[in-house]
Amino acid sequence: MSQLPAWQRAVCYEVYVPSFCRARGAGAGPGLAAAGGRLPGDLEGVRSRLDHLAWLGVDVIWLTPFYPSPMADFGYDVADYCDVNPAFGTLEDFDRLLDDAHRRGMRVIADWVPNHTSDQHPWFLEARSSRAAPKRDWYVWRDGSPERPPNNWTAAFTGGPAWTWDEATGQWYLHLFLPEQPDLNWANPEVEEAMFDVVRFWLDRGLDGFRLDVIHGIGKDPALPDAPEDLARIPWSSQNDYQGTHDILRRLRRLVDSYPDERFLVGEVYLLSTAKVARYYGRGDELHLAFNFPPLYAPWEAAAWRRRIQRVEEEMGPIDAWPTWVLSNHDNPRHRTRYGGSEARARAAAVLLLTLRGTPFLYQGEELGLLDAVIPDDRVVDPGGRDGCRAPVPWEASAGHGWAGVDQVEPWLPWPPESDTRNASVLRADASSILHLYQRLIDLRRSSPALRSGRWEELDAPPDVLAYQRVSGDDRRVVIVNFGDERAEVALAGGLTVQVASDGQGEGAPYAGSVGPSAAAVLG
Ligand code: NOJ
Repeated sequence: MSQLPAWQRAVCYEVYVPSFCRARGAGAGPGLAAAGGRLPGDLEGVRSRLDHLAWLGVDVIWLTPFYPSPMADFGYDVADYCDVNPAFGTLEDFDRLLDDAHRRGMRVIADWVPNHTSDQHPWFLEARSSRAAPKRDWYVWRDGSPERPPNNWTAAFTGGPAWTWDEATGQWYLHLFLPEQPDLNWANPEVEEAMFDVVRFWLDRGLDGFRLDVIHGIGKDPALPDAPEDLARIPWSSQNDYQGTHDILRRLRRLVDSYPDERFLVGEVYLLSTAKVARYYGRGDELHLAFNFPPLYAPWEAAAWRRRIQRVEEEMGPIDAWPTWVLSNHDNPRHRTRYGGSEARARAAAVLLLTLRGTPFLYQGEELGLLDAVIPDDRVVDPGGRDGCRAPVPWEASAGHGWAGVDQVEPWLPWPPESDTRNASVLRADASSILHLYQRLIDLRRSSPALRSGRWEELDAPPDVLAYQRVSGDDRRVVIVNFGDERAEVALAGGLTVQVASDGQGEGAPYAGSVGPSAAAVLG
């Protein structure tokens, strides 16, 4: 089989750094001021759990922002792109983590946040200091009266205007997100130069690529026209789709491709249309991969998923845009929670995620079947309401769940439900657990050309069931996902054996023609 590029054969895993694990105790580095001084995870904590990721079969680890930041948006407000937040460790910790991951055959990518900086970034502090400041034009300023923002765009998380009036210099500045996250002005070539230097800084250190935050947002129509009336109340970060962004992406792609060893870019293109997302692959000269979120927002229903998958096949297939699949991330309730809470559904969803055509992205803790944490009012910290899915990952059954220092200072968010029994160590000891299901699926995917790169073809099935096959040469795997609550009969051409079943039933046995309620299986 011809070798696929690294980003196409990978199983990727999102590490949300503040919530993954802490290895240095309570005394090492500050807690999170934004969370009452409580403890976040750290880079050493990530390093201490690499064996878990290697055992699971992860190829690529995506680290969310670990840069110095006032944490107004928990790291997506960067105050220095080329250093490590002392709450998470040091540059040396980063180097050690990267080395150890590479030694285990895993690659590491990190968030690059190009649309906006923190309002505490020295660039913005200078820009804000006076209208004549050399970096004034690195951000988006407009004249006007303090009563009326320059256009009708709304900011994410606040729902208020995407503009803040700067009293001292008498102009508005643009922020698609919080006022603490002023947008950079990518029309100014100095901004591109500075941000490309950041890319070089990390690639030179050996990083394998980037996850690009709200990448579709960076180019802006210089006229900054009003949003159409029906969209005016939707955050403009989810609408901005300006042509000029593609020119920047082509230059960025050339820069990344000039490095050896298949470095790559996966872009967060938060446009809720697969056809629009597909354009960000360019002609193979823009993003290597882009997140496509409509499936993440699909309900747990066979018909909805059939439509979403067909869309991907129709709108990405013809232009050779290699799809990605995501069920959970740090911005949305976990899929087990969204799908009603049953572990059976979470298991069936794992079969779906890991057998579709494209690169899957797991979110930390989904391999444990975690539910969102319930956050009491006095522990809410995120203005965007995303604390539940960001609960710390429980590693051990013991009181601190494998996090150093939390016997003295609480973790920055409460633990998720059932942490005493639903943690990595207990589930690892149980071969029938959801954790082992993820491991078996990833293993099967690695050994099967059909599952890794084969075409996707739908098969006939009852209404609540999605059945498809993946085919590459002689390798053919059939996948049945029963979204319904009743056992379903599925007639298939004979001779198939159950390879992985979400409920562990019948593995290794010839397929008998039906699949249980909320269950799924891979046959071959
Ligand atoms: C998308 C990130 O995933 C989210 O967490 C963040 O708040 C926004 N971009 C703004 O950077």
